[in-house]
Amino acid sequence: MTLDTYDKIMMLAKRRGFLYPSFEIYGGSAGFYDYGPMGTRLKENLENLWRKYYLLKDANIEISTPTITLYDVLKASGHVDEFTDLTVDCKQCQTSFKVEDIIDENQTVEEAVANDTVTCPDCGSKLSDAHPVNLMFSTEIGIGKTRDAFLRPETAQGIFTGFHLLYRYAREKLPFGVVQLGKGYRNEVSPRQGPIRMREFSMAEAEIFFDPENKSHELFNEVKNHKLYLFDNVNEMKISMEKAVDEGIINNQALAFYMYMTQSILLDAGVDPKKFRFRKHADDELAHYAKECWDAELFSERFGWVECVGIADRSAYDLNAHITASKTDMYALRRYDEPKRITKKQIVPKMNVLGPEFKQRAGIIKEKLESMDAENIPYPITIKVNNEHINIPDNCYDIEEITETVPGDKFVPHVIEPSYGIDRVLYCLLEHNYYEETKNDELYHKLLLPPSMAPVKVGVFPLISDEKLIKIAKKLDKTFRENDIFTTYDDGGSIGRRYARMDEIGTPFCVTVDFESLDDNEVTIRNRDTTEQQRVPIDEVIKQIKNQLEKK
Ligand code: GLY
Repeated sequence: MTLDTYDKIMMLAKRRGFLYPSFEIYGGSAGFYDYGPMGTRLKENLENLWRKYYLLKDANIEISTPTITLYDVLKASGHVDEFTDLTVDCKQCQTSFKVEDIIDENQTVEEAVANDTVTCPDCGSKLSDAHPVNLMFSTEIGIGKTRDAFLRPETAQGIFTGFHLLYRYAREKLPFGVVQLGKGYRNEVSPRQGPIRMREFSMAEAEIFFDPENKSHELFNEVKNHKLYLFDNVNEMKISMEKAVDEGIINNQALAFYMYMTQSILLDAGVDPKKFRFRKHADDELAHYAKECWDAELFSERFGWVECVGIADRSAYDLNAHITASKTDMYALRRYDEPKRITKKQIVPKMNVLGPEFKQRAGIIKEKLESMDAENIPYPITIKVNNEHINIPDNCYDIEEITETVPGDKFVPHVIEPSYGIDRVLYCLLEHNYYEETKNDELYHKLLLPPSMAPVKVGVFPLISDEKLIKIAKKLDKTFRENDIFTTYDDGGSIGRRYARMDEIGTPFCVTVDFESLDDNEVTIRNRDTTEQQRVPIDEVIKQIKNQLEKK
Protein backbone atom coordinates (compact mmCIF):
# COMPACT_ATOMS: atom_id res chain seq x y z
CA MET A 1 0.00 0.00 0.00
CA THR A 2 1.35 3.45 -0.87
CA LEU A 3 1.04 5.89 1.94
CA ASP A 4 0.51 9.59 1.27
CA THR A 5 1.76 12.38 3.52
CA TYR A 6 -1.52 12.42 5.43
CA ASP A 7 -1.24 8.70 6.23
CA LYS A 8 2.37 9.12 7.35
CA ILE A 9 1.56 12.09 9.55
CA MET A 10 -1.42 10.42 11.17
CA MET A 11 0.72 7.35 11.87
CA LEU A 12 3.41 9.53 13.41
CA ALA A 13 0.74 11.48 15.33
CA LYS A 14 -0.57 8.27 16.86
CA ARG A 15 2.84 6.69 17.46
CA ARG A 16 4.26 9.76 19.15
CA GLY A 17 1.24 10.93 21.13
CA PHE A 18 -0.08 13.88 19.12
CA LEU A 19 -3.52 12.61 18.10
CA TYR A 20 -5.42 9.45 18.87
CA PRO A 21 -8.77 8.49 17.32
CA SER A 22 -11.25 8.80 20.23
CA PHE A 23 -13.09 5.81 21.70
CA GLU A 24 -11.11 3.43 19.49
CA ILE A 25 -11.72 0.44 21.78
CA TYR A 26 -15.43 0.77 20.93
CA GLY A 27 -14.93 1.12 17.20
CA GLY A 28 -14.23 4.87 17.26
CA SER A 29 -16.45 7.66 15.99
CA ALA A 30 -15.58 9.81 12.96
CA GLY A 31 -14.87 13.43 13.77
CA PHE A 32 -13.46 12.95 17.28
CA TYR A 33 -9.79 12.92 18.33
CA ASP A 34 -8.00 12.79 21.66
CA TYR A 35 -4.99 15.04 21.99
CA GLY A 36 -2.16 12.92 23.36
CA PRO A 37 0.69 14.26 25.51
CA MET A 38 2.56 15.83 22.57
CA GLY A 39 -0.58 17.11 20.86
CA THR A 40 -1.73 18.77 24.07
CA ARG A 41 1.59 20.61 24.42
CA LEU A 42 1.63 21.65 20.75
CA LYS A 43 -1.95 22.92 20.99
CA GLU A 44 -1.11 24.86 24.13
CA ASN A 45 1.89 26.46 22.39
CA LEU A 46 -0.26 27.47 19.43
CA GLU A 47 -2.98 28.89 21.69
CA ASN A 48 -0.40 30.80 23.74
CA LEU A 49 1.08 32.31 20.57
CA TRP A 50 -2.46 33.32 19.58
CA ARG A 51 -3.03 34.86 23.02
CA LYS A 52 0.29 36.75 22.75
CA TYR A 53 -1.00 38.47 19.62
CA TYR A 54 -4.61 39.00 20.65
CA LEU A 55 -4.08 39.94 24.30
CA LEU A 56 -0.64 41.62 24.27
CA LYS A 57 -0.02 43.05 20.79
CA ASP A 58 -3.69 43.93 20.28
CA ALA A 59 -4.96 44.59 23.80
CA ASN A 60 -8.23 42.67 23.81
CA ILE A 61 -9.95 41.06 26.78
CA GLU A 62 -10.58 37.32 27.21
CA ILE A 63 -13.71 35.65 28.54
CA SER A 64 -15.09 32.15 28.85
CA THR A 65 -18.78 31.31 28.34
CA PRO A 66 -20.82 28.07 28.41
CA THR A 67 -20.53 25.55 25.61
CA ILE A 68 -24.23 24.67 26.05
CA THR A 69 -26.28 27.49 24.57
CA LEU A 70 -30.00 28.22 24.84
CA TYR A 71 -32.20 27.60 21.79
CA ASP A 72 -33.38 31.25 22.00
CA VAL A 73 -29.82 32.54 21.45
CA LEU A 74 -29.22 30.40 18.37
CA LYS A 75 -32.71 31.03 17.01
CA ALA A 76 -32.04 34.79 17.23
CA SER A 77 -28.56 34.44 15.70
CA GLY A 78 -29.96 32.61 12.67
CA HIS A 79 -28.19 29.31 13.39
CA VAL A 80 -31.43 27.35 13.94
CA ASP A 81 -32.68 28.31 10.48
CA GLU A 82 -29.50 28.86 8.50
CA PHE A 83 -26.71 26.72 9.93
CA THR A 84 -27.20 23.89 7.49
CA ASP A 85 -25.36 21.80 4.93
CA LEU A 86 -26.99 20.62 1.74
CA THR A 87 -27.06 16.85 2.08
CA VAL A 88 -27.91 13.80 -0.02
CA ASP A 89 -28.64 10.29 1.20
CA CYS A 90 -27.52 7.06 -0.46
CA LYS A 91 -30.19 4.45 0.22
CA GLN A 92 -27.91 1.73 -1.14
CA CYS A 93 -25.07 2.43 1.34
CA GLN A 94 -27.32 3.91 4.07
CA THR A 95 -24.98 6.90 4.25
CA SER A 96 -25.50 10.65 3.97
CA PHE A 97 -23.08 13.04 2.30
CA LYS A 98 -22.57 16.74 2.26
CA VAL A 99 -23.08 17.64 -1.43
CA GLU A 100 -20.04 19.95 -1.38
CA ASP A 101 -17.78 17.03 -0.38
CA ILE A 102 -18.70 14.70 -3.24
CA ILE A 103 -19.12 16.84 -6.36
CA ASP A 104 -16.57 17.37 -9.12
CA GLU A 105 -14.05 20.13 -8.45
CA ASN A 106 -15.21 22.09 -11.49
CA GLN A 107 -18.86 22.23 -10.43
CA THR A 108 -20.62 24.37 -7.87
CA VAL A 109 -23.11 22.81 -5.47
CA GLU A 110 -25.95 24.61 -7.28
CA GLU A 111 -24.85 23.30 -10.69
CA ALA A 112 -24.42 19.74 -9.43
CA VAL A 113 -27.88 19.73 -7.85
CA ALA A 114 -29.56 21.42 -10.84
CA ASN A 115 -27.86 19.09 -13.36
CA ASP A 116 -28.51 15.99 -11.25
CA THR A 117 -24.85 14.92 -11.34
CA VAL A 118 -24.36 14.00 -7.70
CA THR A 119 -23.24 10.38 -7.29
CA CYS A 120 -22.38 8.26 -4.26
CA PRO A 121 -18.58 8.14 -3.82
CA ASP A 122 -18.85 4.59 -2.44
CA CYS A 123 -21.25 2.76 -4.80
CA GLY A 124 -21.66 5.22 -7.68
CA SER A 125 -25.50 5.45 -7.42
CA LYS A 126 -27.10 8.65 -8.62
CA LEU A 127 -28.20 10.73 -5.62
CA SER A 128 -31.07 13.22 -5.63
CA ASP A 129 -33.34 15.03 -3.17
CA ALA A 130 -30.62 17.30 -1.80
CA HIS A 131 -31.95 18.79 1.44
CA PRO A 132 -30.55 21.09 4.13
CA VAL A 133 -29.56 19.44 7.43
CA ASN A 134 -28.90 21.51 10.54
CA LEU A 135 -25.42 20.87 11.95
CA MET A 136 -26.01 21.64 15.61
CA PHE A 137 -26.09 18.98 18.33
CA SER A 138 -29.30 19.53 20.28
CA THR A 139 -29.83 18.87 23.95
CA GLU A 140 -32.13 19.85 26.82
CA ILE A 141 -31.37 21.74 29.98
CA GLY A 142 -32.97 20.40 33.14
CA ILE A 143 -35.11 17.43 34.04
CA GLY A 144 -38.90 17.48 33.76
CA LYS A 145 -39.49 21.13 32.87
CA THR A 146 -36.72 21.55 30.32
CA ARG A 147 -35.38 24.24 28.01
CA ASP A 148 -34.14 23.43 24.53
CA ALA A 149 -30.47 24.05 23.88
CA PHE A 150 -27.58 23.19 21.59
CA LEU A 151 -23.87 22.57 21.96
CA ARG A 152 -22.51 25.85 20.65
CA PRO A 153 -21.50 25.89 16.98
CA GLU A 154 -19.22 28.90 17.60
CA THR A 155 -17.90 30.65 20.70
CA ALA A 156 -18.93 34.03 19.27
CA GLN A 157 -22.53 34.02 20.53
CA GLY A 158 -21.32 33.90 24.14
CA ILE A 159 -19.57 37.20 23.47
CA PHE A 160 -22.50 38.82 21.66
CA THR A 161 -25.03 37.92 24.38
CA GLY A 162 -22.82 39.62 26.97
CA PHE A 163 -22.05 42.65 24.81
CA HIS A 164 -23.88 45.22 27.00
CA LEU A 165 -21.89 44.11 30.09
CA LEU A 166 -18.59 43.95 28.25
CA TYR A 167 -19.16 47.38 26.68
CA ARG A 168 -19.64 48.81 30.15
CA TYR A 169 -16.52 46.93 31.33
CA ALA A 170 -14.59 48.52 28.43
CA ARG A 171 -15.76 51.93 29.72
CA GLU A 172 -18.07 52.41 26.76
CA LYS A 173 -15.23 53.06 24.34
CA LEU A 174 -14.95 51.63 20.84
CA PRO A 175 -13.18 49.84 19.35
CA PHE A 176 -12.70 47.09 21.87
CA GLY A 177 -12.27 43.38 21.35
CA VAL A 178 -13.28 40.30 23.27
CA VAL A 179 -11.68 36.92 22.65
CA GLN A 180 -12.60 33.41 23.62
CA LEU A 181 -10.88 30.06 23.17
CA GLY A 182 -12.88 26.91 23.59
CA LYS A 183 -14.73 24.02 22.10
CA GLY A 184 -17.26 24.30 19.29
CA TYR A 185 -19.49 21.49 18.02
CA ARG A 186 -20.89 20.63 14.61
CA ASN A 187 -22.64 17.41 13.79
CA GLU A 188 -20.87 17.11 10.43
CA VAL A 189 -22.42 14.87 7.79
CA SER A 190 -20.07 11.86 7.34
CA PRO A 191 -16.74 13.56 8.09
CA ARG A 192 -13.88 11.78 6.31
CA GLN A 193 -11.08 14.28 6.64
CA GLY A 194 -9.54 13.40 10.01
CA PRO A 195 -8.59 16.43 12.08
CA ILE A 196 -9.65 18.76 9.26
CA ARG A 197 -13.34 18.13 9.90
CA MET A 198 -14.06 17.37 13.51
CA ARG A 199 -17.42 17.26 15.25
CA GLU A 200 -15.93 18.65 18.47
CA PHE A 201 -13.17 21.12 17.78
CA SER A 202 -11.18 23.95 19.33
CA MET A 203 -11.84 27.50 18.26
CA ALA A 204 -10.02 30.73 19.00
CA GLU A 205 -12.30 33.62 18.18
CA ALA A 206 -12.10 37.37 18.56
CA GLU A 207 -15.05 39.73 18.19
CA ILE A 208 -13.79 43.27 17.72
CA PHE A 209 -16.51 45.89 18.07
CA PHE A 210 -16.24 49.03 15.94
CA ASP A 211 -18.14 52.21 15.32
CA PRO A 212 -19.39 51.57 11.74
CA GLU A 213 -18.32 55.10 10.87
CA ASN A 214 -14.73 54.32 11.80
CA LYS A 215 -13.40 50.88 10.91
CA SER A 216 -9.78 51.93 11.33
CA HIS A 217 -7.19 50.40 13.66
CA GLU A 218 -4.72 52.34 15.76
CA LEU A 219 -1.87 49.96 14.84
CA PHE A 220 -2.62 50.00 11.12
CA ASN A 221 -0.04 52.68 10.28
CA GLU A 222 2.69 50.72 12.05
CA VAL A 223 2.13 47.67 9.86
CA LYS A 224 0.53 49.04 6.67
CA ASN A 225 3.57 48.20 4.50
CA HIS A 226 3.41 44.51 5.35
CA LYS A 227 2.44 42.41 2.39
CA LEU A 228 -0.48 40.00 2.46
CA TYR A 229 -0.79 36.93 0.23
CA LEU A 230 -4.21 37.36 -1.40
CA PHE A 231 -6.29 35.32 -3.82
CA ASP A 232 -9.50 36.98 -4.98
CA ASN A 233 -10.70 33.80 -6.76
CA VAL A 234 -9.11 35.00 -10.01
CA ASN A 235 -5.70 36.49 -9.27
CA GLU A 236 -3.02 35.71 -6.69
CA MET A 237 -1.19 38.77 -5.41
CA LYS A 238 1.27 39.77 -2.74
CA ILE A 239 0.22 43.27 -1.86
CA SER A 240 0.76 45.77 0.94
CA MET A 241 -2.09 46.19 3.39
CA GLU A 242 -2.25 49.89 2.59
CA LYS A 243 -2.62 49.27 -1.16
CA ALA A 244 -5.19 46.50 -0.61
CA VAL A 245 -7.36 48.88 1.44
CA ASP A 246 -6.80 51.91 -0.84
CA GLU A 247 -7.77 49.89 -3.90
CA GLY A 248 -10.85 48.47 -2.16
CA ILE A 249 -9.58 44.87 -2.43
CA ILE A 250 -10.02 44.65 1.34
CA ASN A 251 -12.97 46.70 2.55
CA ASN A 252 -11.48 48.46 5.56
CA GLN A 253 -8.38 48.90 7.73
CA ALA A 254 -9.76 46.83 10.58
CA LEU A 255 -10.32 43.79 8.37
CA ALA A 256 -6.84 44.20 6.84
CA PHE A 257 -5.26 44.54 10.30
CA TYR A 258 -6.74 41.27 11.53
CA MET A 259 -5.63 39.58 8.32
CA TYR A 260 -2.12 40.80 9.06
CA MET A 261 -2.36 39.44 12.63
CA THR A 262 -3.50 36.09 11.26
CA GLN A 263 -0.72 35.90 8.69
CA SER A 264 1.87 36.78 11.36
CA ILE A 265 0.59 34.18 13.81
CA LEU A 266 0.46 31.41 11.23
CA LEU A 267 3.92 32.13 9.86
CA ASP A 268 5.38 32.42 13.39
CA ALA A 269 3.77 29.09 14.22
CA GLY A 270 5.61 27.41 11.36
CA VAL A 271 3.23 27.50 8.42
CA ASP A 272 5.07 27.24 5.09
CA PRO A 273 4.62 30.66 3.38
CA LYS A 274 4.38 28.89 0.03
CA LYS A 275 1.37 26.97 1.32
CA PHE A 276 -0.48 29.97 2.69
CA ARG A 277 -2.95 32.44 1.19
CA PHE A 278 -6.03 34.51 1.96
CA ARG A 279 -9.00 33.73 -0.26
CA LYS A 280 -11.98 36.01 -0.51
CA HIS A 281 -15.42 34.44 -0.13
CA ALA A 282 -17.61 34.75 -3.20
CA ASP A 283 -21.01 36.29 -2.39
CA ASP A 284 -22.78 32.92 -2.59
CA GLU A 285 -20.50 31.27 -0.02
CA LEU A 286 -20.75 33.92 2.69
CA ALA A 287 -22.16 32.69 6.02
CA HIS A 288 -25.61 34.06 6.85
CA TYR A 289 -24.09 36.67 9.19
CA ALA A 290 -21.15 37.87 7.06
CA LYS A 291 -20.86 40.87 4.77
CA GLU A 292 -17.28 40.14 3.67
CA CYS A 293 -14.98 37.27 4.58
CA TRP A 294 -11.41 36.26 3.84
CA ASP A 295 -10.27 32.76 4.68
CA ALA A 296 -6.68 32.07 5.62
CA GLU A 297 -6.15 28.84 3.70
CA LEU A 298 -3.31 26.37 4.24
CA PHE A 299 -2.37 23.87 1.59
CA SER A 300 -2.49 20.18 2.41
CA GLU A 301 -1.31 17.52 0.00
CA ARG A 302 -4.40 15.37 0.45
CA PHE A 303 -7.07 18.00 1.08
CA GLY A 304 -5.90 20.87 -1.14
CA TRP A 305 -6.48 24.40 0.19
CA VAL A 306 -8.02 24.11 3.66
CA GLU A 307 -9.90 26.96 5.33
CA CYS A 308 -8.19 27.36 8.71
CA VAL A 309 -9.16 30.89 9.79
CA GLY A 310 -12.10 33.01 8.67
CA ILE A 311 -11.80 36.78 9.05
CA ALA A 312 -15.29 38.14 8.62
CA ASP A 313 -17.00 41.48 8.74
CA ARG A 314 -20.22 40.48 10.56
CA SER A 315 -21.45 44.10 10.46
CA ALA A 316 -24.20 44.70 13.08
CA TYR A 317 -25.91 41.41 12.23
CA ASP A 318 -25.61 39.63 15.59
CA LEU A 319 -26.18 42.54 17.94
CA ASN A 320 -29.23 43.63 15.93
CA ALA A 321 -30.57 40.09 16.11
CA HIS A 322 -30.17 39.94 19.90
CA ILE A 323 -31.59 43.44 20.40
CA THR A 324 -34.71 42.42 18.46
CA ALA A 325 -35.14 39.03 20.09
CA SER A 326 -34.20 39.82 23.71
CA LYS A 327 -35.27 43.49 23.82
CA THR A 328 -32.00 44.29 25.59
CA ASP A 329 -30.33 47.65 25.09
CA MET A 330 -27.17 46.65 23.24
CA TYR A 331 -26.50 50.01 21.68
CA ALA A 332 -23.28 51.96 21.90
CA LEU A 333 -23.08 55.71 22.22
CA ARG A 334 -21.25 58.17 19.99
CA ARG A 335 -20.92 60.99 22.53
CA TYR A 336 -21.37 64.65 21.60
CA ASP A 337 -18.74 67.08 22.87
CA GLU A 338 -21.51 68.58 25.00
CA PRO A 339 -24.87 66.90 25.79
CA LYS A 340 -27.67 68.35 23.63
CA ARG A 341 -31.19 69.44 24.61
CA ILE A 342 -33.56 67.81 22.13
CA THR A 343 -37.29 68.35 21.72
CA LYS A 344 -39.16 65.42 20.27
CA LYS A 345 -42.59 63.92 19.97
CA GLN A 346 -43.69 61.00 22.07
CA ILE A 347 -46.75 58.74 21.97
CA VAL A 348 -48.43 58.49 25.37
CA PRO A 349 -50.92 55.58 25.46
CA LYS A 350 -54.12 56.19 27.49
CA MET A 351 -54.68 53.07 29.55
CA ASN A 352 -58.10 54.28 30.75
CA VAL A 353 -59.27 53.97 27.11
CA LEU A 354 -57.09 51.07 25.93
CA GLY A 355 -58.01 48.90 28.95
CA PRO A 356 -61.81 48.75 28.48
CA GLU A 357 -61.47 48.67 24.66
CA PHE A 358 -58.81 45.95 24.25
CA LYS A 359 -58.92 44.10 27.61
CA GLN A 360 -55.95 41.64 27.94
CA ARG A 361 -54.39 42.89 24.70
CA ALA A 362 -54.12 46.44 26.10
CA GLY A 363 -50.67 45.82 27.65
CA ILE A 364 -49.01 44.68 24.43
CA ILE A 365 -50.71 47.48 22.46
CA LYS A 366 -49.35 50.00 24.98
CA GLU A 367 -45.82 48.59 24.59
CA LYS A 368 -46.00 48.70 20.82
CA LEU A 369 -47.36 52.25 20.79
CA GLU A 370 -44.52 53.40 23.04
CA SER A 371 -41.90 51.84 20.80
CA MET A 372 -43.19 53.61 17.66
CA ASP A 373 -41.38 56.52 16.07
CA ALA A 374 -43.64 59.42 17.08
CA GLU A 375 -42.17 61.65 14.37
CA ASN A 376 -43.53 59.36 11.63
CA ILE A 377 -46.85 57.99 12.80
CA PRO A 378 -48.99 56.32 10.13
CA TYR A 379 -52.70 57.07 10.11
CA PRO A 380 -54.54 55.11 11.25
CA ILE A 381 -52.09 53.27 13.50
CA THR A 382 -52.33 49.52 12.89
CA ILE A 383 -50.78 47.11 15.36
CA LYS A 384 -50.31 43.39 14.85
CA VAL A 385 -51.17 41.25 17.88
CA ASN A 386 -51.23 37.45 17.52
CA ASN A 387 -51.48 37.73 13.73
CA GLU A 388 -54.47 40.13 13.96
CA HIS A 389 -54.10 43.66 12.60
CA ILE A 390 -55.85 46.08 14.95
CA ASN A 391 -56.65 49.70 14.10
CA ILE A 392 -55.99 51.94 17.08
CA PRO A 393 -58.49 54.83 17.37
CA ASP A 394 -56.81 58.19 18.03
CA ASN A 395 -58.60 58.66 21.39
CA CYS A 396 -56.37 55.83 22.71
CA TYR A 397 -53.23 57.95 22.83
CA ASP A 398 -51.86 61.50 23.02
CA ILE A 399 -48.89 62.88 21.17
CA GLU A 400 -46.80 65.10 23.43
CA GLU A 401 -43.67 67.10 22.90
CA ILE A 402 -40.90 66.40 25.38
CA THR A 403 -37.50 67.97 25.86
CA GLU A 404 -34.65 65.82 27.06
CA THR A 405 -30.87 65.94 27.45
CA VAL A 406 -29.14 63.53 25.07
CA PRO A 407 -25.45 62.63 25.56
CA GLY A 408 -24.87 61.29 22.02
CA ASP A 409 -26.14 59.19 19.12
CA LYS A 410 -27.04 55.60 19.81
CA PHE A 411 -25.92 53.00 17.27
CA VAL A 412 -25.31 49.29 16.95
CA PRO A 413 -21.58 48.49 16.72
CA HIS A 414 -20.15 46.48 13.85
CA VAL A 415 -18.00 43.42 14.39
CA ILE A 416 -14.85 42.14 12.74
CA GLU A 417 -14.30 38.49 13.61
CA PRO A 418 -11.11 36.51 13.11
CA SER A 419 -12.10 32.91 13.88
CA TYR A 420 -9.41 30.21 14.05
CA GLY A 421 -9.96 26.49 13.70
CA ILE A 422 -7.13 25.45 16.00
CA ASP A 423 -7.18 21.74 15.11
CA ARG A 424 -6.94 22.45 11.39
CA VAL A 425 -4.00 24.79 11.90
CA LEU A 426 -2.38 22.18 14.11
CA TYR A 427 -2.74 19.43 11.50
CA CYS A 428 -1.32 21.72 8.79
CA LEU A 429 1.62 22.58 11.07
CA LEU A 430 2.42 18.88 11.32
CA GLU A 431 2.17 18.54 7.54
CA HIS A 432 4.14 21.67 6.67
CA ASN A 433 6.94 20.75 9.09
CA TYR A 434 7.11 17.08 8.25
CA TYR A 435 10.46 16.06 6.80
CA GLU A 436 11.63 12.64 5.76
CA GLU A 437 14.79 11.14 4.40
CA THR A 438 16.06 7.64 3.86
CA LYS A 439 18.78 6.56 6.29
CA ASN A 440 20.21 3.07 6.10
CA ASP A 441 17.30 1.98 3.88
CA GLU A 442 14.81 3.18 6.49
CA LEU A 443 12.59 6.25 6.47
CA TYR A 444 13.78 8.79 9.01
CA HIS A 445 11.22 11.43 10.08
CA LYS A 446 11.61 14.84 11.61
CA LEU A 447 9.18 17.57 12.57
CA LEU A 448 10.94 20.84 11.85
CA LEU A 449 8.64 22.86 14.10
CA PRO A 450 9.82 26.30 15.24
CA PRO A 451 11.38 25.81 18.70
CA SER A 452 8.63 27.94 20.26
CA MET A 453 6.03 25.44 19.01
CA ALA A 454 7.90 22.24 19.84
CA PRO A 455 6.06 20.26 22.55
CA VAL A 456 9.34 19.24 24.18
CA LYS A 457 12.22 21.70 24.05
CA VAL A 458 15.05 19.51 25.25
CA GLY A 459 15.79 15.79 25.36
CA VAL A 460 18.11 15.03 28.27
CA PHE A 461 20.15 11.82 28.09
CA PRO A 462 22.95 10.02 29.86
CA LEU A 463 25.13 8.59 27.06
CA ILE A 464 24.71 5.12 28.51
CA SER A 465 22.82 3.73 31.43
CA ASP A 466 25.51 4.36 34.03
CA GLU A 467 24.59 5.46 37.57
CA LYS A 468 27.07 8.37 37.61
CA LEU A 469 25.85 9.73 34.26
CA ILE A 470 22.19 9.13 35.14
CA LYS A 471 22.58 11.12 38.35
CA ILE A 472 23.95 14.18 36.51
CA ALA A 473 21.45 13.92 33.64
CA LYS A 474 18.48 13.64 36.03
CA LYS A 475 19.67 16.65 37.99
CA LEU A 476 20.06 18.64 34.76
CA ASP A 477 16.61 17.54 33.60
CA LYS A 478 15.10 18.75 36.90
CA THR A 479 16.86 22.10 36.57
CA PHE A 480 15.48 22.58 33.03
CA ARG A 481 11.95 21.95 34.29
CA GLU A 482 12.49 24.30 37.23
CA ASN A 483 13.30 26.91 34.57
CA ASP A 484 9.94 26.29 32.82
CA ILE A 485 11.54 24.35 29.96
CA PHE A 486 9.72 21.16 28.96
CA THR A 487 12.04 18.18 28.71
CA THR A 488 12.01 14.47 28.11
CA TYR A 489 14.51 12.43 30.09
CA ASP A 490 15.43 9.24 28.26
CA ASP A 491 18.00 6.60 29.12
CA GLY A 492 16.59 3.73 27.03
CA GLY A 493 18.23 2.30 23.91
CA SER A 494 21.01 3.61 21.71
CA ILE A 495 21.72 7.34 21.57
CA GLY A 496 20.79 7.24 17.86
CA ARG A 497 17.33 5.84 18.66
CA ARG A 498 16.88 8.48 21.35
CA TYR A 499 17.76 11.28 18.92
CA ALA A 500 15.35 9.75 16.41
CA ARG A 501 12.50 9.74 18.95
CA MET A 502 13.16 13.41 19.72
CA ASP A 503 13.41 14.33 16.01
CA GLU A 504 10.03 12.73 15.40
CA ILE A 505 8.31 15.01 17.91
CA GLY A 506 10.26 18.07 16.77
CA THR A 507 12.48 18.54 19.86
CA PRO A 508 14.96 21.25 18.83
CA PHE A 509 17.77 20.32 21.26
CA CYS A 510 19.16 17.24 22.93
CA VAL A 511 21.67 17.40 25.77
CA THR A 512 23.87 14.40 26.47
CA VAL A 513 25.93 13.71 29.58
CA ASP A 514 28.93 11.45 28.85
CA PHE A 515 31.99 10.19 30.69
CA GLU A 516 33.99 13.29 29.77
CA SER A 517 31.35 15.35 31.59
CA LEU A 518 32.56 13.75 34.83
CA ASP A 519 35.99 15.36 34.26
CA ASP A 520 35.31 18.62 32.39
CA ASN A 521 31.78 19.47 33.61
CA GLU A 522 30.68 19.93 30.02
CA VAL A 523 27.75 18.39 28.13
CA THR A 524 26.92 18.07 24.43
CA ILE A 525 24.08 20.02 22.86
CA ARG A 526 22.84 18.49 19.62
CA ASN A 527 20.82 20.64 17.21
CA ARG A 528 17.84 18.94 15.55
CA ASP A 529 18.04 20.79 12.21
CA THR A 530 21.79 20.70 11.60
CA THR A 531 22.60 17.65 13.78
CA GLU A 532 25.69 19.63 14.83
CA GLN A 533 27.02 18.98 18.30
CA GLN A 534 28.54 21.53 20.61
CA ARG A 535 30.30 21.11 23.98
CA VAL A 536 29.00 23.55 26.60
CA PRO A 537 29.80 23.94 30.33
CA ILE A 538 27.00 22.34 32.30
CA ASP A 539 26.42 25.58 34.24
CA GLU A 540 25.73 27.46 31.03
CA VAL A 541 23.58 24.96 29.19
CA ILE A 542 20.23 26.26 30.49
CA LYS A 543 21.08 29.87 29.65
CA GLN A 544 22.29 28.94 26.16
CA ILE A 545 19.20 26.93 25.36
CA LYS A 546 16.92 29.63 26.80
CA ASN A 547 18.58 32.16 24.48
CA GLN A 548 18.10 29.87 21.49
CA LEU A 549 14.46 29.29 22.37
CA GLU A 550 13.78 33.00 22.65
CA LYS A 551 15.47 33.72 19.30
CA LYS A 552 12.96 34.48 16.52
N1 GLY B 1 -17.62 32.18 14.25
C1 GLY B 1 -17.24 31.81 12.96
C2 GLY B 1 -17.60 30.45 12.58
O1 GLY B 1 -18.39 29.87 13.27
O2 GLY B 1 -17.11 29.93 11.62
